[in-house]
Amino acid sequence: MQIKKVVFPVAGHGSRFLPATKATPKEMLPIVDKPLIQYAVEEAIDAGFSELIFVTGKTKRSIKEHFDASLNLDISNITEPKKKLFDEMNHIIPEQVSCIYINQEEPLGLGHAILQAKPIIGDEPFAVVLADDLIDSKKGVLKQMAEQYVDRNSSIISVQKIDKKDSILYGMIDTEDSNVNMRKLTGIVEKPSQEDSPSNFGVVGRYIFSNEILSFLETISFGAGNEIQLTDAIKKIIATQSVFAYEFEGTRYDCGDKLGYMKANVEYALKDKKFGRAFLAYLKEKVL
Ligand code: UTP
Repeated sequence: MQIKKVVFPVAGHGSRFLPATKATPKEMLPIVDKPLIQYAVEEAIDAGFSELIFVTGKTKRSIKEHFDASLNLDISNITEPKKKLFDEMNHIIPEQVSCIYINQEEPLGLGHAILQAKPIIGDEPFAVVLADDLIDSKKGVLKQMAEQYVDRNSSIISVQKIDKKDSILYGMIDTEDSNVNMRKLTGIVEKPSQEDSPSNFGVVGRYIFSNEILSFLETISFGAGNEIQLTDAIKKIIATQSVFAYEFEGTRYDCGDKLGYMKANVEYALKDKKFGRAFLAYLKEKVL
């Protein structure tokens, strides 16, 4: 079954990225010339998703404006290449794909943000993408996961090996032992200390959920960091149905963190068709 709906929670504080995120959503920060949210949206469209649900907060108007086909520019006296570019900007979202924006009045946590999308999700399975986790991969991670979902019909969360001393930054998982890249989840803890972490696999911002996760989200109360944590709902759902942890193929950049964001910009700039070579020459001059 092709899943149609994907939720983009974009209502967080972005406090790690202040002051840039004081009036601008972190998801609008550009990597080279494209905002993070556009990379995420393109990954979802490429994976076949056709209903995009944005959970936005108070500084998020620019996200809707970015995707609206409303570049009101007088194009009568501009050159052909610019016309083409402006036309492309008005068609980032293909016609068969729809966007819905809902508000999270207060950023009470990722679990709370997802719950705001419940009336639009209805009773279908759905995906969640955190745009500040930028993943560079040959095949988009959401596409990799959607293919796995077709085979298993079970919730899947993406994970990657992390340095155990960074456990405090992640949801850390426990799984049935296996050497494959898809493991059955047996436990999950939000931001444990290195000593308490059940493994060295941390959760990354791509998920596919069976609809039941929403009922579990409704039952949980404030957890770690005094937020409604998605992790706590996942902990509950694994007692009733199989959830798999998928070790994806690709390189992930934590762009909610300043260093991760800078690394992503360097890597994507080096790959840029127009400026990559010149940028490499500049870096060599600078550091060698
Ligand atoms: P983060 O954990 O990165 O939190 O959220 P944050 O508040 O955005 O950033 P910091 O930690 O203060 O720097 C992960 C994702 O969940 C969204 C964020 O926008 C981000 O995409 N989120 C988080 C919400 O939409 N609402 C929330 O209440 C919390």
